[in-house]
Amino acid sequence: MCGIIGYCGARAAKPILLDGLKRLEYRGYDSAGLAVAEGNQLNLIRAVGKVSDLEKKGIARPLPGHCGIAHTRWATHGRPSEENAHPHCDCTRKVSIVHNGIIENYLDLKEELLARKHVFSSETDSEVIAHLIEEYFEADLETALLKTVQRLEGTFGIAAIHADCDRQVVIVRRGSPIIIGIGEGEYFAASDANALLPYTQKIISLNDDEMAVLHPSGYHIKNLNNEFLQKEIEIREGRDEQADKKGFEHFMLKEIFEQPQAIENAFRGRLIESEGVSKLGGLEPVMERLKNVKKLVIVSCGTSYYAGLCGRYIFESLSELHVEVEVASEFRYRKLKMDGDTAVLALSQSGETADTIAAIREAKRKGALILGVVNVVGSGIAQITDAGVYNHAGPEFGVASTKIYTSQLVVLTLMALLIGRYQGLSFTEGSAVIQAVKKLPRQVKRILTDIEHIKKIAQEYARYEDFLFIGRQHNFPTAMEGALKLKEISYIHAEGYPAGEMKHGPISLIDENFPTVAIVSQDSTFDKMLSNIQEIKARNGRVLAVASEDDERIAGLCDDVIRVPETLPLLQPVLNIVPLQLFAYFIARFKGCDIDKPRNLAKSVTVE
Ligand code: F6R
Repeated sequence: MCGIIGYCGARAAKPILLDGLKRLEYRGYDSAGLAVAEGNQLNLIRAVGKVSDLEKKGIARPLPGHCGIAHTRWATHGRPSEENAHPHCDCTRKVSIVHNGIIENYLDLKEELLARKHVFSSETDSEVIAHLIEEYFEADLETALLKTVQRLEGTFGIAAIHADCDRQVVIVRRGSPIIIGIGEGEYFAASDANALLPYTQKIISLNDDEMAVLHPSGYHIKNLNNEFLQKEIEIREGRDEQADKKGFEHFMLKEIFEQPQAIENAFRGRLIESEGVSKLGGLEPVMERLKNVKKLVIVSCGTSYYAGLCGRYIFESLSELHVEVEVASEFRYRKLKMDGDTAVLALSQSGETADTIAAIREAKRKGALILGVVNVVGSGIAQITDAGVYNHAGPEFGVASTKIYTSQLVVLTLMALLIGRYQGLSFTEGSAVIQAVKKLPRQVKRILTDIEHIKKIAQEYARYEDFLFIGRQHNFPTAMEGALKLKEISYIHAEGYPAGEMKHGPISLIDENFPTVAIVSQDSTFDKMLSNIQEIKARNGRVLAVASEDDERIAGLCDDVIRVPETLPLLQPVLNIVPLQLFAYFIARFKGCDIDKPRNLAKSVTVE
């Protein structure tokens, strides 16, 4: 979603801001802009579309200033337009701000400011921030911003500059991430460390209700009670090279191919073979409490939600926990009884998803133990959970989540194994899970060698406008995730369904123009899946099956088959989703879609 970058130092700000914006592009956006302070003036450039459009617009304007802020906007309040793009200014054009999040009371504030003769030039909620700063500004931006945020309700990560405050960038956070990058005689602000890694690996993350003032001569951090804070500098790994596509045409394809490594990273050092159990250091501080938990509620969104649905089958296979899975945005509307016996597990790649954060807050209020499985180290969710496990999958840049899904399934398996071994799960059963987990990277590699075959099938199916994806048990969430992958990047309508539900409605859609992707594993659901496929064939539906390598019956029934190796039923989804990711990828490529940045989508969804 929206991205922020800010700079103050000896270098010209504009090229650094543009470069930072390019590194934030993967988050998804529809307009971009930057403001540079120079003399006692602010210069603004804004454009609808890509950062390259902004860059073109800025070619004729060198803007030599050494301090500035920039933004990629994903429209919430007001359509994507130049006026609505950030940075926003006050009436005097001395104040400029960029904002991530939502100001919930902006209409009241706007009314008040209009009554005080402020003139607004956008439809956004964010613009009120600039006008409030104007109201409160006497001599310093820090105090004016401090007073401003006391008036704001909602979530925000804000960076502000003032034409009269020489080379100063002031930032503040509540619910929307913002970090400081520390250089040599220069400082950076950003909503995401990836934007800063070429410049510095020294990062300070602000917590909610903290603000920082950056100036080439130094920085200080305060809370909103105006008290100074000392915060540790973290050294972020030099992962900038991962921001490179490394010869792949898209990040999504690169990340699909990174899955063997991401899966290995998820279990490396976490398996104790001699005891048939896993070891998850991040859960140790809460292990005593976790052993007594009776109910587990998994909360997450999108692909992470489907991983959660898979997680339910995994926990039910290995442990005695009662498991519920909730879409995070619906969690607060449920009247779920929660107490010390309940653990709530949040799954999130970004660790910044606003709906998931809101669900965690709700669960905390009710006294549940809060756990997380998060990929981005130090992210918001990682900070507010009681304990958790990192995926260590490396950054995911493609908007369509791929390697995190399979990594999440592996981490969930390790968690279920850990808890299960304190319950009824035997050493032999635990050992079988460990052996199967260890084989996964090789098995995924084998699927990836089938790329040309999958590409050919995708080409044949690219002409259809609707798809049904079906599976049973462990493969029902795989059907949902396969359909999501296809719809989000190729804009083709696709529905994921439990195969048994087909006859209760969706079968009426089936004809020769409505193909079905059937995920058929050799488990207890096999015969029933074959019957469902026959029902589709009887109605002239085309069927593509994802099936086991040694399944001899499937080829005679289906029009096309993609083969995958076999593993334990609870881990089969890790393998079955891989060809479906490639299938969606190639269909989107044949259709000429913008695969890494699908329309209307954002990588990190920081609004509820
Ligand atoms: C789909 C996708 C989204 C995310 C969802 C949750 O490919 O990427 O559905 O899975 O927005 O994001 P995280 O996992 O960052 O909480």
